[in-house]
Amino acid sequence: MSPFWNAWVWTITLVVILGCTLLLLATRRSEPHKEATEETLGHTFDGIEEYDNPLPSWWFQMFVGTVIFAVAYLGLYGLANVKGFYGWSSVGQYEEEMAHAEEVYKPVFAKYASLSIEDLQGKPDGLKIGQRMFANNCAVCHGGTGAGAHGFPNLTDNDWLYGGAPATIQQTITEGRQGAMPAWGPVLGEEGVRDVTSYILSLSGAEHDADMAARGQQQFQALCTACHGADGKGTQALGAPNLTDNTWLYGGSFEQISHTIRTGRNGVMPAHKALLSDDKIKLIAAYVYSLSNK
Ligand code: HEC
Ligand code: HEC
Repeated sequence: MSPFWNAWVWTITLVVILGCTLLLLATRRSEPHKEATEETLGHTFDGIEEYDNPLPSWWFQMFVGTVIFAVAYLGLYGLANVKGFYGWSSVGQYEEEMAHAEEVYKPVFAKYASLSIEDLQGKPDGLKIGQRMFANNCAVCHGGTGAGAHGFPNLTDNDWLYGGAPATIQQTITEGRQGAMPAWGPVLGEEGVRDVTSYILSLSGAEHDADMAARGQQQFQALCTACHGADGKGTQALGAPNLTDNTWLYGGSFEQISHTIRTGRNGVMPAHKALLSDDKIKLIAAYVYSLSNK
C-alpha cells in the first residue's frame, strides 16, 4: 500500500475512535444529575414525559468497553503498514497457507514429476489429478468433458489447431495461444465474401453454388493459402484450421463461415504459466492427451 493510503486508513480509524470517546465524555459531563431523579425534561408527547436521568452506568460502560476493545485490537493485530503484537497480516496468512499446501501436496506431484506425458497415460491416479485440475482451470471454456463449444476447441477429437503431440499441448497450456484470422470483408467486398464462402463449403463437400465456388477458388488461392495451405488443410504452426473436414470452431453454416471471413476471428487461449506450476501443467496436459488417445 502507498504511504498515502496507509495514512488515510490510520487517520479515519483514529478520528473515529477519538471522536467516539470525546462524544461519550461530552454527553457524560453535560448531564445535570449524577443520580436518579424524579425531575422531568419538561416536554410531553401524548402525555408521556421523560425523566432527566443520567445514562445507566452499564450502558455507559459498554461504550467505554468498545473503545478499549478497538484500541486493544489495534495493538494486537495492527493496521495498514503497522504490524500488531501478533505480527499478523492477511498476506502473511495467505503465504503461510500456500506454504502448508505446497508441503502437503509436493510429494503427491513429485511422484509424477519424473514421468513423461506418454508414461502418465498408464497412471490412472495421475490422470485423475489432471482431470480435477482441468475441471477447476479449463472447464469454464472447454466444457467439463473437454468437448468444447462455439469458439472453444474440442480437445477430445483428433483435430488440432496447433497440434496434439504431448509437447505441443504442454506448450499451448503454458504459453497460451492467440488465433489470428484477419477480416477479409474490406478486401473481398460482400460478393467476394459470398464467393469464397461457397468455395469453403465445397471443400468439405457441403451444399454450395458451383459458379460462386469457382470464383471463390481464385480468391482463396490469392489470399488464404499462406495460412490455410493450397489444399485448405490448414497450418498447425499458425493455428490456421483445416477447412476441408467437417469440424468447425466457429460453425459451418453459410452465415457462420461468411461471418468468419468478413470480420475475422481472434480466439485467445490464456497462458497458464503464472497460474500453475510446471508439474501441474504436465498432469493436465497428460489428461488432455488421454482424451483423444485412448
Ligand atoms: C478463457 C477461456 C479458456 C480457458 C480458461 C482455457 N482455454 Fe484452452 N483454449 C481457449 C481458446 C479460445 C482456444 C483456441 C485458441 C485459438 O482459437 O487459436 C484454446 C485452445 C486450447 C488448446 C489447443 C487446441 C488445438 O486444437 O490445438 C488446448 C490444448 C487447450 N486450449 C487446453 C486448455 C487447458 C488444458 C486449459 C486449462 C489449463 C485451458 N485450455 C483453458 C480458451 C480457453
Ligand atoms: C494470417 C493467416 C490467415 C489468413 C491469410 C487466412 N486465415 Fe482463416 N484463419 C486463420 C486462423 C489463425 C484461424 C483460426 C482463428 C482462431 O483460432 O480464432 C482461421 C480461421 C478461419 C475459419 C474458421 C474455421 C472454423 O473452424 O470455424 C475460416 C472459415 C477461415 N479461416 C477462412 C479463411 C479464408 C476464406 C481466408 C482467405 C480469404 C483466410 N481464412 C485467410 C488464419 C488465416
